Amino acid sequence: MRIDIITVLPELLEGPFAHSILKRAEEKGIAEVHVHQLRKYGVGKHQQVDDYQYGGGAGMVMQCGPLVDCIEDLQKERSYDAILYMTPDGKRYNQSDANQLSMLGNIMIICGHYKGIDQRVRDHWITHEYSIGDYVLSGGELAAAVISDSIIRLIPGVLNDETSALTDSFQDDLLAPPVYTRPEDFRGHKVPEVLTSGNFKEIELWREKQALKRTQERRPDLLSD
Ligand code: ADE
Repeated sequence: MRIDIITVLPELLEGPFAHSILKRAEEKGIAEVHVHQLRKYGVGKHQQVDDYQYGGGAGMVMQCGPLVDCIEDLQKERSYDAILYMTPDGKRYNQSDANQLSMLGNIMIICGHYKGIDQRVRDHWITHEYSIGDYVLSGGELAAAVISDSIIRLIPGVLNDETSALTDSFQDDLLAPPVYTRPEDFRGHKVPEVLTSGNFKEIELWREKQALKRTQERRPDLLSD
C-alpha cells in the first residue's frame, strides 16, 4: 500500500511515521507513506495556497489551483483508489472504514487548514470525506496520521501477531475485554481467577461476556447498530 499525504505542515507528520508500527511496515516494504508540501504548488512570491472566501466571512479557504495541481501531479505517476479529505464535517470514521481502506492499493489524503478547501475540489476530486470525531482540530494532519495508522496496522504482515488486529475493539462491533499481566496479585488486587485456570474454553467464555458487558456499559450504541 502507498499513502500520499498533501499538507502545508509536513513537519507535523514526521513524528508519527518515523516510529512504531508505521516505520516497521515501511521497512518491511508493506506500506509506504509520502508527505508532500502543498506550498510547492502555491502562487506567487509567498507561494500562497489560500484566499478570502467569496461572499465574505472570517477565515481563509484553500484554493483549487495548488491542490488540484498537486493531486494531478501524483496521478500522473500512478492511479489512486481513493482520495480522502480530512474534515470535521465528513463521515465519522470507524473501524469498518479502516478495514475497507486497508484493502486498497494507493490512497491520497488531503489535509485541510483554515476554513477548509474550496468546495469544487470536494465535489470533483475527493472520493471520501472523513472526520475522526466531533471536535475541531487545527488542521487535518493529525487526523491523517490517525487514519493512516489505523489502516496500515490492518495489512497482513504489519503486526507480528496477525490475530491481534482481529481481536481489537470494534472488529466485531464489541469493545475488547479487560487484559491482565504479571504479577497475579498487585497490592492485593488480584487477576480474575478464570484467567489463571488454564481452562481455555472458560477463558474464551469469560472474555466474550466481559466484552459484551463493557460494550453495554460504555458504548450501547454499538449494540443497537
Ligand atoms: N480537521 C479538523 N478537525 C477534524 C476532525 N475532527 N476530523 C478530521 N479532520 C479534521
